[in-house]
Amino acid sequence: MKINTKLTKVSRNVKRQKGFINPGIYKGSTMIFNTFEDYINDIKNDDDRSTLYGINKNPSVEQLEKAISNLYKCHDTVVAPSGLAALIIPFFAFLKKNDEVLINDTVYSPTRTFCEKLLKNYGVRVKYFHPFEDINKFQKLITSKTKLIYLESPGTATFEILDIPKITKIAKKKNIPTVMDNTWASPLFCDPIKLGINVVIDAGTKYINGHSDTLIGFVSSDKKHAKPIRVATKTLGICPGSEEVYLALRGLPTLNLRMKQIEFNALELARELNKHPLVDKVYHPAIETSENHNIWKRDFTGSTGLFSFSLKKFYPQSKIKKMFSKISIFKLGYSWGGYDSLITFPPLSKRKFKTLLKGNLIRVYCGLEDSSDQIKDIINSLKTLK
Ligand SMILES: Cc1ncc(COP(=O)(O)O)c(C=O)c1O
Repeated sequence: MKINTKLTKVSRNVKRQKGFINPGIYKGSTMIFNTFEDYINDIKNDDDRSTLYGINKNPSVEQLEKAISNLYKCHDTVVAPSGLAALIIPFFAFLKKNDEVLINDTVYSPTRTFCEKLLKNYGVRVKYFHPFEDINKFQKLITSKTKLIYLESPGTATFEILDIPKITKIAKKKNIPTVMDNTWASPLFCDPIKLGINVVIDAGTKYINGHSDTLIGFVSSDKKHAKPIRVATKTLGICPGSEEVYLALRGLPTLNLRMKQIEFNALELARELNKHPLVDKVYHPAIETSENHNIWKRDFTGSTGLFSFSLKKFYPQSKIKKMFSKISIFKLGYSWGGYDSLITFPPLSKRKFKTLLKGNLIRVYCGLEDSSDQIKDIINSLKTLK
């Protein structure tokens, strides 16, 4: 089955949906047992928290779990009320006091905040590694205490591609679970399980929902790591809202079409910026001049809407404000993955390894507007800097 067909069919069942083409929305806490024997059997599941209760057995959540597991070709998926709520689950599932976790320094900033503000308080040591320079000596970063490797590729704001197979090969030998935040690529453009990853994070808030009207997150695991992930999720009481689950399911059938357009739009703008006299560097893995472009080509089957570029010199905030005042299509706001184009000016101050920038860093997300309008909007705004 080709992907466009699969996305319209995955985990949908008209009979179960009482004839409707779309899934239903189930709300609630209490679920009623069929028989007394079912109740007695269910009590035995108490430890793994899979008891018959709204947190565990909501039919629409199960439908979404199956759909995402199918797309990520993995054993099991749990659904969380945001991408951030999803990505903290593996830390709770695999780490305990005195353990160490290795994380790429270019990780999504709130992941770092979780590690620094909460995880460290529980006696876990957090070590950040450089996305390129540390890869060839990766084995040396691992100690007997390393119990988790957490990766995000491409990295946030500067979009470095990690050599995932190199890392997972070492991790497998040492029996250390690997997690990858795959939100940028979505299941369409990267298959982390094939690259040796054990647990995949996807902030469905972005591309899977695709309309900026939902917060939702997924944790998809291989067979070996599925149970600890599910137990941690349920024990923490993590469960999504039913409207959000419905909206994520509704996003799936159009995912590929949206991604193709978003990919095209971002590449057109990136290429235009790459030859602009005021631009120093374009950070987009599919642009040939990007570092690790060859690894992106090897491990990914497409690119998406989010990238950044740096200017040749640093302009004061007043100048950047003036530049922004000329922009009308790109809106100033967080997140990405919807139809609206967005712009931000990310600070990289929390990183351990400094990214060498000659000038201001600007992050753009290309949504579904016409590519020529998007290009005009950004290129016109750059004229204010001359
Ligand atoms: C790479 C990445 N992972 C996870 C998240 C968190 O997703 P959410 O906004 O649903 O919490 C984000 C949000 O911007 C992100 O950029």
